[in-house]
Amino acid sequence: MDLRLLKLKIMKKINKIILLVTVVVFVTIIFTQCATQQNATSTESTSFAKGVPEYVLQKSGAQLWAESCIRCHNTASPATFSDTEWDVAIKHMEIRAQLTKVEAEKVLEFLKSAN
Ligand code: HEC
Repeated sequence: MDLRLLKLKIMKKINKIILLVTVVVFVTIIFTQCATQQNATSTESTSFAKGVPEYVLQKSGAQLWAESCIRCHNTASPATFSDTEWDVAIKHMEIRAQLTKVEAEKVLEFLKSAN
């Protein structure tokens, strides 16, 4: 076999190995990061909402409502809508505001308690 061709083949092999090692290192980093993150949150959270950061659990529905909903528009008074109407509006706004389930439930609870 031609020596240059052989060199080329070896280079290609080395490139493959480097790529493989990089991928393995990345995957390992991501997995360990996720594992440590899960540990951090699981020690903080209660059984009521596993994996939800403490700062979210500490916030009241009214606080979350005041903070999240004002980002895009004036906040309609809780009295504007009935419970069922809020059910629908929150489903829609949960997505728009990128709220977590827990946050959306808290906001909804607050809105229903104040209308
Ligand atoms: C990312 C921007 C954004 C955020 C954050 C947001 N909204 Fe909205 N909201 C909109 C837009 C845009 C509309 C009007 C168009 C639509 O209905 O999609 C709207 C409309 C509404 C309406 C009117 C619906 C109707 O049928 O008249 C209500 C009520 C509402 N939002 C409540 C909320 C509440 C409560 C929150 C907080 C949990 C919130 N929004 C957060 C963008 C947002």
